[in-house]
Amino acid sequence: MLGRDVVEAARTAGHEVTGLGHHELDVTDPKAVRAAVASARPHAAINCAAFTDVDGAEERYEDALAINGDGAGHVAAATADAGAAVVQVSTDYVFDGTKSAPYVESDQPAPASAYGRSKLDGEEAVVRANPRHAIVRSSWLFGVGGPNFVANMLRLGAEHDEVSVVTDQVGCPTFTGHLGPTLVSLAERETTGLMHLAGSGWCSWHDFAVEIFREAGVDCRVEAASSAQLDRPAPRPAYSVLISERPDAPRLPSWRDGLAEFLAAREVAA
Ligand SMILES: NC(=O)c1ccc[n+]([C@@H]2O[C@H](COP(=O)([O-])OP(=O)(O)OC[C@H]3O[C@@H](n4cnc5c(N)ncnc54)[C@H](OP(=O)(O)O)[C@@H]3O)[C@@H](O)[C@H]2O)c1
Repeated sequence: MLGRDVVEAARTAGHEVTGLGHHELDVTDPKAVRAAVASARPHAAINCAAFTDVDGAEERYEDALAINGDGAGHVAAATADAGAAVVQVSTDYVFDGTKSAPYVESDQPAPASAYGRSKLDGEEAVVRANPRHAIVRSSWLFGVGGPNFVANMLRLGAEHDEVSVVTDQVGCPTFTGHLGPTLVSLAERETTGLMHLAGSGWCSWHDFAVEIFREAGVDCRVEAASSAQLDRPAPRPAYSVLISERPDAPRLPSWRDGLAEFLAAREVAA
């Protein structure tokens, strides 16, 4: 999902882009990663590949770690060998969600889920492998290039009069159409270090669902549920609002603007 918007944004910005999907490059294969980077000879690589099944990672931690941890390290090492910079995409799920004020870069990560642990391992692998790195933590992504919460809600809203959505997880929904171009500009400027970058503002999943139906003009009631009622395999942070304490951090538009743009883009694509 994010990778598609990054590729499109980089092409729009006039760059020569090599976009590699899973079937073209497996990031768990260090030789293949080195060969791909050496052949493309990029100024920078933006790694959007990941094992993103948060619940599945609880049972398949080794697979998640191979992709999110070691795979991220292989991409960073290959870019270092090729004299290129790397941008690694990470997640709010590196935090346990026990804070009640927004998380900044200097907050200590403490992932509660296997997915979060594998992504934190990837951050550390990137730091070790390539000093010319940016690690960008984002959250609650939605975009036209893949399955996501907004698309799920629209599908459910078309089939049911009522849906149940949790009120006890609060975060920053982020439109990949906003994040993608910003990642490209970070790569252009060769911004380094750790940075939080998410849609401005925050809400619960329940608030988000209400706004999705309102903005899309769908008549569907949103019942309040709790995470305990849903009983999913992986724990999610109760509060994972990301903001940046870096003066050079770009600011993304609000998640509400992202939602409106997403709905407009879906209509064009339909
Ligand atoms: N979605 C979110 O809410 C969210 C929030 C915060 C951060 N992030 C991070 O943002 C980044 C992009 O996420 P996304 O939502 O765009 O995820 P996505 O749509 O699931 O994309 C991940 C891509 O990685 C590919 N992939 C999986 N294993 C691979 C491997 N071994 N080698 C190469 N490619 C592989 C997947 O291909 P297959 O589908 O063929 O396996 C898929 O195309 C990830 O780093 C994710 O951790 C996501």
